[in-house]
Amino acid sequence: MRQTGIPSPLDEIFSAALIFAVLSGIIANISYWALDKNSVPAKTENNPISIPRVGKDPNAIGMAAARADFLRNGYQLIREGYQKYKNSAFVVQTADMERVILSNRFVNELRSLPEDVLSLRKAMSERHFGSYTTLNIIQLSHLQNDVCRHQLQQNLGSLVPVMYEEMKYAISQRLAQCDTQDWQTANVYKTVLGCVAQVTSRAFVGFPLCRDPKWLETAVGYTGDVFAVSQDLRDKHWLARPFIYMFLQSRKRLQARIQSGRSMLIPLLQERADKLPEKPQSDLLQWMTESAQGADKSPYRLSDKILFLCLASIHTSSSTAVHVLYDLCQYAEDCVPVLREEITRTIAEDGLSLASINKMKKLDSFIKESQRINHPGTLAFNRKVVKPITLSNGVRLPPGSFISMPSAEIARDPANYANPEEFQPWRFEQKRSVSPAEANKHQFASTSVDSLPFGMGKFACPGRFFAAGMIKILLIILITEYEFQFPGDQKERPANTYLDERIAPSTTQEMQFRRRLRQ
Ligand code: HEM
Repeated sequence: MRQTGIPSPLDEIFSAALIFAVLSGIIANISYWALDKNSVPAKTENNPISIPRVGKDPNAIGMAAARADFLRNGYQLIREGYQKYKNSAFVVQTADMERVILSNRFVNELRSLPEDVLSLRKAMSERHFGSYTTLNIIQLSHLQNDVCRHQLQQNLGSLVPVMYEEMKYAISQRLAQCDTQDWQTANVYKTVLGCVAQVTSRAFVGFPLCRDPKWLETAVGYTGDVFAVSQDLRDKHWLARPFIYMFLQSRKRLQARIQSGRSMLIPLLQERADKLPEKPQSDLLQWMTESAQGADKSPYRLSDKILFLCLASIHTSSSTAVHVLYDLCQYAEDCVPVLREEITRTIAEDGLSLASINKMKKLDSFIKESQRINHPGTLAFNRKVVKPITLSNGVRLPPGSFISMPSAEIARDPANYANPEEFQPWRFEQKRSVSPAEANKHQFASTSVDSLPFGMGKFACPGRFFAAGMIKILLIILITEYEFQFPGDQKERPANTYLDERIAPSTTQEMQFRRRLRQ
């Protein structure tokens, strides 16, 4: 047919389809740049000082390719940017937004800015498609932050014995096979995640729900479901997202998870309301119920906010604890006897309480050093600029831009920490012993310009004191009641996984445990 030069109807249909495809591709690309709410251009044109770019430029290679590049090489890109511009700023296309990565020298001028100028919650919600993933729950009110900052911290002292009891039970369940004098093997990540989820749940929703396997699955699984939906939507055109969303398997799983949470928490709220004026429970769900105003009083809202708090707390705390265990295992010979002595002496003198846990300076130092080297992520202090900000060096940050700080690099900079690549377990204890003024600084839960894993300022993590208490309780039990080692000839901790801006501990590493003989 082609030989005749006369197009057949099939050729015409094919050509029309091709033209349509090309045209719609062009239109899609133009509107992508013009309209995509999820792609904020560098917006540095009006800046008197332009901000250099590190990594692939999405204008040159396309947004999807630039994002994919950060997904694979994010850690190296931030490292490269830090080495070049550690005292100023650089722009990088991350796997979600384009971000201005700022030097920590700006943290003090930014840390106290109000939510309507520089917003943590807007950044978190928009980076993860809050209106689709339900993360926008954090923008609707501050309740989740307020209860952590106030009631959770004020009640930490009375929670310590409860957390200790729950942790002992959780460990004995998960390491039941290790309850002998023979070495038995357990997957570290799974064991710790399970224990942390159970103890966190005891503090959040009380007994007996904290031991219910269906609840634990919901509390742990919600995080993965939120990130899966966010990941599935990221590279889709914003106009197409509502339609694509409807057919996502990840959406179905997320919605089922939210329903599952509600199906357990709403009857619990009702049961508690029916029992009033009986002495109320002392847990986060109760404090939230008592503090809620207006729309936050809705049982649906309360349930969803509890799920958000599970997202904020469980994987973050358990990953930190897993890193510490790997380090403890690697440095066991030098460190475990020292820590065991500190723990047993302090408990013998003062019993187990928040005050006595806070006296264990070596334990605190070990955890902080482990977190310094194994940061939760390459970036912290993630915020969205809501109103224009001019930095002290004259750089203007326009509304709509996203900022972050390269916290993992800051923590490994020799200008901040001597021999930063060396694991020095008592580094922070030594810093605290220099003078009375330093004694209360350099703690695991302290934030500072050089220590940003919990963020800093007005919106620094309000759950960090709880996380510190829980991780220490886990370690106190494991160090005093168990012996542990890597299997076979393994001497060193497993390598971390670097993906996107996340730095994660191995999830497959096993350790051998056995009960210590009572001395
Ligand atoms: C080792 C464990 C944890 C790490 C590394 C961590 C890290 C963070 C970071 C980096 C932020 C943002 C702060 C900023 O940018 O200034 C944050 C916010 C937050 N974290 Fe944590 N966190 C941990 C544990 C917890 C726990 C146990 C809870 C709850 C009990 C919690 C509740 C929150 C909440 C509610 C927010 C802020 C959300 C808002 O303001 O609406 N976190 N966390």
